[in-house]
Amino acid sequence: MSKEITEEVWEKLHEIAVDATTRSYAPYSKYPVGAAALVDDGRFVSGCNVENAGYGVTLCAECGLVSDLINGGGGRLVAFTCVNKEGTKIVPCGRCRQLLFEHGGNDLLLDMPAGIQTMAQVLPDAFGPSDLDEVKEGSNG
Ligand code: THU
Repeated sequence: MSKEITEEVWEKLHEIAVDATTRSYAPYSKYPVGAAALVDDGRFVSGCNVENAGYGVTLCAECGLVSDLINGGGGRLVAFTCVNKEGTKIVPCGRCRQLLFEHGGNDLLLDMPAGIQTMAQVLPDAFGPSDLDEVKEGSNG
């Protein structure tokens, strides 16, 4: 698939993300989040945040999105957006940048409040799968 993401696709992603906020479970923060992404095979995946009485157990919207990606057959994320319930674009938290990096790499495009940015820009020098290759199997330090 071409890396060129049309305005139409960004609008569709925004629409899907806003729709996902309506299914958010956020009784504690009262801050519904929706996330949506385009996969390299053309499908769209999405997620909403799911909070928990044990606050630290909360699942960000991106967690649901990655679960949707894998459960739907996998693939690579090529374009991503996340919004609050007002439909305002928000930045993915640091942990979620790492989560998304695993499935989109440096070239994943993110619709940030500041404009379209690559993952390499929003998570420079990320630790990823290739870093694990640098340790020989069976070695113990
Ligand atoms: N949240 C997300 O879903 N994604 C992010 O990247 C930032 C934060 C959620 C977690 C929590 O339910 C609420 O926003 C307030 O932090």
